[in-house]
Amino acid sequence: MGKHVVIGITGGIAAYKTMHLIRLFKKNGYEVRVTATRNALQFVTPLTIETLSQNRLYTDMFDPNRTMEVEHIALADWADALVVAPATANIIGKFAHGIADDALSTLFLAVKKPVFIAPAMNSNMFENTAVQDNIRLLHERGCRILAPDEGFLACGTTGSGRMQEPEDIFERVDEELSGDRSLLGKHVLITAGPTYEPIDPVRFIGNHSSGLMGFCLAEAAARKGALVTIVSGPSNCTAKHPNIRRIDVKTAEEMYQQCMQIADQQDIIIMSAAVADYTPAHPAPEKIKKEQAGMAVELVRTKDILASVGKTKRDGQLLVGFALETENEVENAKKKLHTKNADLIVLNSLRTAGAGFRTATNQVTIFAKDGREFASELKSKQEIAEEILQTAQMYIQK
Ligand code: CTP
Repeated sequence: MGKHVVIGITGGIAAYKTMHLIRLFKKNGYEVRVTATRNALQFVTPLTIETLSQNRLYTDMFDPNRTMEVEHIALADWADALVVAPATANIIGKFAHGIADDALSTLFLAVKKPVFIAPAMNSNMFENTAVQDNIRLLHERGCRILAPDEGFLACGTTGSGRMQEPEDIFERVDEELSGDRSLLGKHVLITAGPTYEPIDPVRFIGNHSSGLMGFCLAEAAARKGALVTIVSGPSNCTAKHPNIRRIDVKTAEEMYQQCMQIADQQDIIIMSAAVADYTPAHPAPEKIKKEQAGMAVELVRTKDILASVGKTKRDGQLLVGFALETENEVENAKKKLHTKNADLIVLNSLRTAGAGFRTATNQVTIFAKDGREFASELKSKQEIAEEILQTAQMYIQK
């Protein structure tokens, strides 16, 4: 039997996209029932909703055609999840304050299953303190907020107010209802990207890392239910999943500080960042002028974050490091298991075409402390992320 989802539609133009969302659920074997507010039906028609959902539309609590069941209670019991898309400022306000004056707001109070809320409104309205406070309240009470664009959950910034795409909404609900939740509630810390070490205010020493491998790991862990913190050097990658908290840093020192503050609370720590091993000893306060024929920059060692976390690692924590080698790959990678007290080292080979920096694919060999080795094929970084997590999970103490 398919899972049961109740979709609540409120009065916003994005309601037309919800028709596609209904189709996505149906196509993937879900049973769908829909409740729509009176304003929602200014944008979409009952006939469209009923045809797509293949079920009767619930709008009126006092519908003369209703059955003898107390409808909102029966619907609440039937649902495996309630998905409100689009959610207007009005319905968000009602949900936050327990107002129940129509079918959807009444149903909300009766549902004990996961509730997903996809806000959609004008960006000024979305940024309004009252709306933000209401969203925060609902989030704190356990509602899953599918923040528009880069909304407030993902990174503390405000979004444009555009509803998430139906595909993204479907994926988020589906992963929670049907997906692999094997990291539910676990805390995962991931480092990603390069670091930029300043020479002067306009120049830096960096490297070619894009951060993609780390962001794929973050998304994969979040999909399995983990609460992920990604500490990232400068990267164009985005973290979409609401379970990912992103901390942006520039230098190795900043990455070190951020990681050490929270390392103790983590169950799994994966250090995929390409951290600079050296940083300019005396970054110039002003732009360096080209006066001499040549110049030398004095460099000093940065702190090794992986090794530092390895030193303070406690029982039950799993530490995963990366190694990027161009010679004596296996020997060097295995050495890092011990020198950095890691449980797993993921070796990226620069020799394989399509693996390493600035590629969409990767090929890795994972070395474990117990001597076992796991070699992957050349695959997308998303798939490699899954494999790394699966291997890590084999070594988590249950
Ligand atoms: N790493 C780190 N902090 C640093 C340098 C590296 O946390 N200051 C981590 C990387 O994120 C990676 C692992 O250490 O997980 C391996 O980094 P790599 O640069 O390959 O190895 P190093 O230990 O720096 O040794 P070498 O450069 O001599 O190979």
